Amino acid sequence: MNEPSDSTAVRYERQGAVGWITLNRPQSLNAVNSEIRELFPRAVERAEADPEVRVIVVRGAGERAFCAGADIKEFQAPESVVQARQLRAHMHWLRPLDSALKPSLAAIHGLCLGAGLELALTCDIRVAAHDAQFGLPEVGLGIIPGSGGTQRLSRLVGLGHALHLILSGERIDVEEAYRIGLVSRVVRGSQLTAEVERLAGVIAGRAPLAVALAREAVHRGYDLPLADGLRLEADLASLLLTSEDRLEAAAAFREKRRPFFKGR
Ligand code: COA
Repeated sequence: MNEPSDSTAVRYERQGAVGWITLNRPQSLNAVNSEIRELFPRAVERAEADPEVRVIVVRGAGERAFCAGADIKEFQAPESVVQARQLRAHMHWLRPLDSALKPSLAAIHGLCLGAGLELALTCDIRVAAHDAQFGLPEVGLGIIPGSGGTQRLSRLVGLGHALHLILSGERIDVEEAYRIGLVSRVVRGSQLTAEVERLAGVIAGRAPLAVALAREAVHRGYDLPLADGLRLEADLASLLLTSEDRLEAAAAFREKRRPFFKGR
């Protein structure tokens, strides 16, 4: 991917330990077109490959939207089975984010609809501005959420709230989104970047291996029966008994100083 430039549909820039990925089609409310589907995975891969990056943040450019969903202007009937398969492969643009080893945050302002909400749901943590609105309008367009929405929303907010949003296509405001657990923090629009920067900085300052294995325990354990999840947690916890950072944290505590983590 090229260096950050204003003309590309996905911008990537690293600031300190944070890799910022910006959907950059503000004139179309950052609707996800084929260019975004191509560039977004590359930006995630770039953040994953950069050892300096400890947290990935996704946001939308412009005043009005995090992302207004899939680009409806690109909707077309497949002309052949091959093209149908290609269109289907197009739906996997969130896979690299889903399988990323680094934690991810969504900084959400304005509209967060359809594929935009599915993108936010793929992130580990969602922080939203007061003006944020959320919805999955797909059924009104004769389709269903196809980038994880039907699966991730119900796991996050429960079947009832998920089915309400998915079957009605109605939008909810940020208070409702916070109430049902769709976002974990709400801030003023002017504070969104600062709050996300703060939170990303806090996570980036924790022991990297511990952050990675805690994430793994939560994500992999979520779909397991409790006994298997507890076993997974015990295995991952004992892996960390051998880490240098664990000893460094204890030494820093005794010496009343900040720990210096090396990620091993
Ligand atoms: N796909 C393609 N273009 C989109 C878009 C989308 N999902 N959402 C917004 N845009 C474009 C509009 O076409 C418009 O561009 P234009 O002036 O060249 O036509 C521009 O973004 C601004 O949107 P506009 O509709 O003029 O703003 P609005 O305030 O009147 O309405 C919405 C905002 C979000 C209610 C309306 O744009 C909308 O319904 N978008 C579709 C949302 C959706 O269904 N997403 C899920 C797709 S599966």
